[in-house]
Amino acid sequence: MGETVLVTGGAGYIGSHTALALIKAGHQVVVLDNYVNSKPGALDVVSDITGESIVVVEGDATDVDLVEKVLRDNNVTAVIHMAALKAVGESVDMPLEYYRNNLESCMATLEAMRNAEVWKFVFSSSATVYGDPDVCPIPETASIGATNPYGMTKEMIEVIIRDLAASDDRWKITSLRYFNPVGAHESGRISEAPVGRPNNLMPMIMEVATGKRDKVMVFGDDWPTPDGTGVRDYIHIMDLVEGHVSALEYLDDQDGYDVYNLGQGRGTSVLELIAAVEEATGLTIPYEVTDRRAGDIAECTADPTKANEVLGWKTTRTTADACRDAWNSQQL
Ligand code: NAD
Ligand code: UFG
Repeated sequence: MGETVLVTGGAGYIGSHTALALIKAGHQVVVLDNYVNSKPGALDVVSDITGESIVVVEGDATDVDLVEKVLRDNNVTAVIHMAALKAVGESVDMPLEYYRNNLESCMATLEAMRNAEVWKFVFSSSATVYGDPDVCPIPETASIGATNPYGMTKEMIEVIIRDLAASDDRWKITSLRYFNPVGAHESGRISEAPVGRPNNLMPMIMEVATGKRDKVMVFGDDWPTPDGTGVRDYIHIMDLVEGHVSALEYLDDQDGYDVYNLGQGRGTSVLELIAAVEEATGLTIPYEVTDRRAGDIAECTADPTKANEVLGWKTTRTTADACRDAWNSQQL
């Protein structure tokens, strides 16, 4: 039978890929999204690829009554909460909007779940909660300390859901700390399509590869890393979303609250990622080294051992696969 899963923010980049993975694993999907950073089209493609329908409701996850109605109308059994604003720089300029949207959408969803007696909850957290890490690869036990309002919303929500799980043992709650999701579904039919100038490296490289921009600006080559450019743990989007399926399916065996890193466990520098895209596409990607970006850190890589051992989940795709699939998704 599988679960009937409400994915809030499910029309977005990670949500649409998650819907696909859930359906492939035999679950039913309901999406609630207000399209503040997405369009309905991606979910039509997911239905087309899978041959399964998705219930899609346009609306705001900050609305307790609406979320409760969606849960009850569709006999939802679990929720993956992805609805959030996610641009770090914007969150520094607009903290009130970020705290309101990200905290309220989460708390309203949890309140609606309690009213409808739905107790399984998976939260989209982020490696950003580790701030500038003391140790890489980072285990879940590392100290926490977000350095921007976006990251603070993730850190605050992790506290809220931990306390909630401790208050009533019917709750089963998992926080997934994502490292850097990149790439697209192998079909190339759904992709990451940011509105305006991309903040993140892979979408920026893709815009240079397609000729939309002249060059990638590399934010500093004087970091304490092997080639001086920033090192991150890029994880193929399909590996990341399969991690959600594993976490969801593990909830029946889980007591209360737990947290997992979702990453490859391998670092790649900015210049290495540019070279990997060149290799995958046969193109030359022009770049220019410029100043460091405010708030950046040298290195951020995951220790994914806990998710490997407890959830039985492992990444199976390489950074080269992610570059190929990201490029493939630009060809539509
Ligand atoms: P996205 O912007 O593509 O998707 C988020 C979706 O949430 C969008 O479709 C948006 O319209 C929707 N949304 C926002 N506020 C809403 C609200 N109040 N009610 C209903 N819908 C709302 O972003 P994504 O990259 O798919 O990220 C999904 C989740 O993963 C977010 O919580 C994000 O913070 C988290 N995350 C993303 C990354 C990343 O690098 N992409 C890394 C770590 C964590
Ligand atoms: N970078 C460039 N040029 C660009 C964009 C990025 O050189 O045009 C560099 C950055 O300096 C960094 C690396 O590429 O060294 C990766 O930067 P991203 O912006 O792609 O990713 P971040 O690691 O800075 O942050 C992302 C999300 C956060 C999330 C974090 C961990 O934006 O929200 O991954 O999941 F918290």
